[in-house]
Amino acid sequence: MKHEMNPNDGSGDSSSAPSMSPDEFRRAAYRHADWIADYLKNVREFPVTTAAQPGELAASLPRKAPDQGEPIEKIFADFNSLIFPALTLWNHPRFFAWFSVSSSPPSMLAEFLTATLNVNAMLWKSAPAATELEQVTLSWLRDWLALNETFFGIIYDTASIGVMQAIAAAREWIDPRSRIKGMRGDLTVYISEHTHSSSEKAAIVLGFGQENVRKIPVDDQFRMRAGLLEQAIELDIAAGKRPCCIVASVGSTSTTAIDPVPAIADIADRHGIWLHVDAAYGGSAAVIPEMRHILDGAERAHSLILNPHKWLYVSIDCSVLYTRFPEILRRSASLSAEYLKTTEDDRVINYMDYGVQLGRRFRALKLWYVFRYYGRQGIIAMLRETLRLAQVLKSLVEADPDFELSAPVPLSLICFRHRSGDIFNQHLLTEINSTGKAFLSHTVLNNRFVLRFAVGNFQTNEQDIRESWALIRETAQRLRVPEAAMTHSEART
Ligand SMILES: Cc1ncc(COP(=O)(O)O)c(C=O)c1O
Repeated sequence: MKHEMNPNDGSGDSSSAPSMSPDEFRRAAYRHADWIADYLKNVREFPVTTAAQPGELAASLPRKAPDQGEPIEKIFADFNSLIFPALTLWNHPRFFAWFSVSSSPPSMLAEFLTATLNVNAMLWKSAPAATELEQVTLSWLRDWLALNETFFGIIYDTASIGVMQAIAAAREWIDPRSRIKGMRGDLTVYISEHTHSSSEKAAIVLGFGQENVRKIPVDDQFRMRAGLLEQAIELDIAAGKRPCCIVASVGSTSTTAIDPVPAIADIADRHGIWLHVDAAYGGSAAVIPEMRHILDGAERAHSLILNPHKWLYVSIDCSVLYTRFPEILRRSASLSAEYLKTTEDDRVINYMDYGVQLGRRFRALKLWYVFRYYGRQGIIAMLRETLRLAQVLKSLVEADPDFELSAPVPLSLICFRHRSGDIFNQHLLTEINSTGKAFLSHTVLNNRFVLRFAVGNFQTNEQDIRESWALIRETAQRLRVPEAAMTHSEART
C-alpha cells in the first residue's frame, strides 16, 4: 500500500507532512481490526510472558525519531515483529499475575471511538455527552452495587490518583485551614499492614508525612484488626494528633482480604474520621447479589474506590471514586480560572473541579459500551464463573500434599506455596513464568514467599486453570531437590 502524501508535497522539504486520507485510514483500520480479532481468537498461541531482556527492544530501535513520515504498513509490521513479542500479554487468559484484568471487545471498540473523537471531558461545555454519560454510567454502577443515591461518582485514571483525592478530601474535612496555610504535621492516616501502597504514597505526596501513617496489624486472615485500630487512634488523640482518614480494604492486594468495614465504620463515626474504602479490585464482585455482603458497611464510608479496569471488563485505565461528600471533594480540588468559566457553570457538573487533572479522557464511553453489551446479568455470569474457577484451583491446591494454601480465597485470588521452602518457591515461580504458558506473581505472607494466582481475564476457562495447575506441578516435580540437599533453614522456611 502506498504511503499517501499531501498533493502539494513532493519537494521532501521539512514543511511537507504526510496526510492519511480517509481511504488509507479505512484500509489500515480494517487491517488493525483483523489483527485484533485474530489476537482474540488465537490468543493462547502466544506466550503470555516475553523472553525480552532489559534494554533489548530499545537497542533494536533507531536512536533518533524518523525525519520523514513512514508508511503505516511498515509501522504496523514493526509493531508486530518488534513490539508485540516484547510485551507481557495482560489481555491473555493465562495471565494470572498481580490482578488478572480484561479489555473486553466492547471496551476496545469504545476506546477506538474515544481516540477518534479525542474530546476533553474537563467541563460540561467541553464535552457535554462525556460529562453526562459519566454521571449516568456511574449511577448505573452505583445501583448495581446497591449503594444509595447520596454517592456521587467520578472517574479517575487509577485508584492511586483516586485515593490521593480521597485523602485530600479527608484533610479538607478535618482541617480546611490547611488548604490555605499548609499542614501542621499533626494529621494522621490509618491503613493496615496489607493496604495497597498507593494510600501511603498519597499521604506522602499530600504532605502528611510517612511518620503520620499508622500501619495497623492484621489478623490470621490478613484483615485489619479493628480493636488495634481504635487503640492507635486513641493513643494519637492523647498525644495531640488529629486522626484524619482510615483506609479499609475490600479485597487487599496481597490476599484479597476483606477488612471488617462495619466495625471500622463504627470507629470512624465515634471519632469523626473520614473512612475511605479501597474496593479497587474486590468491589466488582459486589455486583453479584450473593456477594453484595462484601460491601457491608461501605454505605457508611465517606468515599469508596472501585476499578472497572481491574475486574469489570473495561480497559486500563478507568477507576471510579464514589463519595457521599462531593462538596468537600470539590472544595479540596477546585480552583477557578477565568478562561475555564462557562455560562452553564451553575447548572452542570464540571468534573475538573473534583480532581487535580484538568484534561480528562472520555472514559465513560467504554463503561457504557461494556455495561450495555453484557448487561448486568452478563457481567454477573462472568464474575460468578471467575469465582468458580478460583474455587477449582483452590481445590486442586488443597488436594495436593506437596502444596499448601497460604490464605483464604474469598474472591478470585489463590495464594499458595510448595512445601519445600522459600528458595524453592522463588525458583518455581521463575521456571513457570519462563515457559510463557502461564504468568503468576508472588507476595510474602508471614515472612514466607508465596505464589499468587489471580483469575479474572474474560477468556480464562477451566482448561486454562487445569493446564496451568498441571504445569505448576510438573515444574515443581522437575525442580524438586532431594530433601538432604537442602540447607536446614531452607527446609524449615
Ligand atoms: C487494592 C488495590 N488498591 C489500589 C490499587 C492501585 O490501583 P491503580 O493501579 O489503579 O492505581 C491496587 C492495584 O493493584 C489494588 O490492588
